[in-house]
Amino acid sequence: MKEKAVKKYLTLTYGCQMNERDTATIAGLVERSGYQEASSFEEADLIVLNTCSVRHSAENKVYGKLGELKRFKQDKPDMLIALGGCMAQLDEVRDKLKKMGIVDVVFGTHNLHELPYLLEKAEAGLERPVIDVWAEAGGIVENLPARRPGGISAFVNIMFGCNNFCSYCIVPHTRGRERSRHPDDILAEVEGLVEQGVKEVTLLGQNVNSYGRGLESKLDFADLLRMVNQIDGLYRIRFTTSHPRDLSDKLIQAIADCSRVCEHVHAPLQAGSNRILQAMNRGYTCEEYLRLVRQMRATIPGVAITSDLIVGFPGESEEDFRATLAMVEKVRFDSAFTFMYSPRTGTRAADLKEQVPLEIKKERLLRLNEVQYQIAREANRQLENQAVEVLVEGQSKTDSERLTGRTRTNRIVVFEGGKHLVGKLLQVVVREARTFTLYGELPKGEGALR
Ligand code: SAH
Ligand code: SF4
Ligand code: F3S
Repeated sequence: MKEKAVKKYLTLTYGCQMNERDTATIAGLVERSGYQEASSFEEADLIVLNTCSVRHSAENKVYGKLGELKRFKQDKPDMLIALGGCMAQLDEVRDKLKKMGIVDVVFGTHNLHELPYLLEKAEAGLERPVIDVWAEAGGIVENLPARRPGGISAFVNIMFGCNNFCSYCIVPHTRGRERSRHPDDILAEVEGLVEQGVKEVTLLGQNVNSYGRGLESKLDFADLLRMVNQIDGLYRIRFTTSHPRDLSDKLIQAIADCSRVCEHVHAPLQAGSNRILQAMNRGYTCEEYLRLVRQMRATIPGVAITSDLIVGFPGESEEDFRATLAMVEKVRFDSAFTFMYSPRTGTRAADLKEQVPLEIKKERLLRLNEVQYQIAREANRQLENQAVEVLVEGQSKTDSERLTGRTRTNRIVVFEGGKHLVGKLLQVVVREARTFTLYGELPKGEGALR
């Protein structure tokens, strides 16, 4: 009798680090149901798309991929397609998916743990598509399985959801209200990862600075950092995102004090005009932001400060935009992600009348990038001919003779070296600094710190 072949799955992840971490859980869940990871689409019996709706372009990528998969599925009608993540939370997306008829299972951000059961339902073929999305989060479900992290770096959720309702942002609508994990669960997860060989963790939350609100123990993010910093065998701790409004001096001091915590704060400014910041509902002014920058630079030696910036928010005038350019010049971000404002149905800003035309948004994005890239390049050049501490993450995708890693300040460093150095902390001398990458070399015969 022919043995039943093992079923294979593939995951496709869009969006932010939260989604990457969720994909690890999704993979863990389907592996527990007996699936094994496939190495190609051809081999896969199940494809799970973990989607993002932060901007129109993110959704478009997913629709493009579904178009591709539709052709694929014609030859392979038994293949299941499941779609989860932030897009699944939105009514209009689910309506569209029903009409498209490609997706077999739709699950949301709050009920990942139900996926195996939903897949079984789809396999039974009674319903198509099987849709189960919760509008609100239930309690935090702990102890879900997760695919082992492949690399030396892993993401760890410390909280879920967001209460900030920045007027442009869909995330509070797709991820629900803010909930913090119990510190014991976080510490246990990090310890488990270290046992599996992970050297660096990134603590994740939409606003890690508000960690602990609602927990019984009176504990905040600064306290949590100090606790994680005690874990032996862990080389580095990163965290993202830090909302400037909640960035306390206590936290800045903790970052400075904790030896494993990297000197990098991602504190998105978003815009440099107080009028626009207010319309965005960000809860701080440029003056307050500049005070924070001074405080961080005075307290945390060598700190890198990075940002997200949006151009073309409704009502943004040329003068407002120039104020953003001026702030970028004043702060001198080590790097920044820059975006054109994208109206999201259901958010307050989407209903504002004075939408900025696409051509103007494009032009502003180019001007902003020109200024920001120049600053990033200059900051990187300061490191030329200096030794920097690099945690080696892996071999370069394009050249197996080369390794890639990051500095504590989150700069990517590429240098020649053998595979045996992956996972090591090294001193690398920077030889050439470009806008996004440093090229370096190992000092002869030495360099290994650990
Ligand atoms: N919680 C994080 C990240 C949220 S999404 C934070 O507060 O920083 C990541 C970034 O996407 C945001 O910082 C913002 O710059 C950008 N973004 C969010 N909604 C957007 C929209 N509608 N249009 C353009 N950019 C957006
Ligand atoms: Fe969106 Fe603002 Fe929450 Fe970040 S803090 S996820 S930008 S609402
Ligand atoms: Fe996208 Fe959802 Fe993250 S909208 S940015 S995947 S929280």
